[in-house]
Amino acid sequence: MKRLAFIFLEPSTRTFASFWMAARELGIDVCDIRDSSIAKGESLEDTVRTVEQIGFDGIVLRTPFDDGWKRARAVTDIPVIDAGNGKFTHTSQVLGDCTTLVYAGFKLSSVKVAFLGDTENSRVYNQFKWMVPKHVVCTAKEAIGADVYYCLRPQTERGYDSDNLPFYVYPEMMYTGAYLMHPGPYTGVEFHKNLLNHDRNLMGEQVKNGLDIRKKLLRGCLGSS
Ligand code: CP
Repeated sequence: MKRLAFIFLEPSTRTFASFWMAARELGIDVCDIRDSSIAKGESLEDTVRTVEQIGFDGIVLRTPFDDGWKRARAVTDIPVIDAGNGKFTHTSQVLGDCTTLVYAGFKLSSVKVAFLGDTENSRVYNQFKWMVPKHVVCTAKEAIGADVYYCLRPQTERGYDSDNLPFYVYPEMMYTGAYLMHPGPYTGVEFHKNLLNHDRNLMGEQVKNGLDIRKKLLRGCLGSS
């Protein structure tokens, strides 16, 4: 049986739980290292080396560090899978979101995605923007006419100034036929709460496709047994 260490130095619901579910469905054993000795002063590098020495076959890694994935990769030969690092990468989220757009009938090369909210501190935006070349960053009013409103929460843990709230997609904006996306977690200020269950709110699809992508990533990196 393959064994995977989940090193998560930041909170997570969907990424952690869906990597866990994906691993279980592939028959991969999982060790939850959310409460690591990094809190006692150990470096990320020593933690990663220790996990490899114990005999794990791979690592799923979330850190607040922009270079977290690269630092881990530099000191180990086992696969290190990005589960969100710093402001610039959240690979499994972005791949799941690309899948969601394609399943909704869009081409990545032509879909007009309006990114709304805290783009500056968003690792999802900073990676996803390369996949959708026709994207814009704008205010809610300027977004009207886009195919997709992609909302991002205020990431106060990475320096967002909460005095700038709210940025808000309002229900009337859905009359154009646009879709609504959000990587989660939703904090109540990104769009009106009545849109949580809107037919064209794709958040549930993003979660489902995220699970599927994570299963493919784990299968590709570790195999299934
Ligand atoms: N989208 C995302 O990364 O959500 P979690 O922080 O809940 O994993």
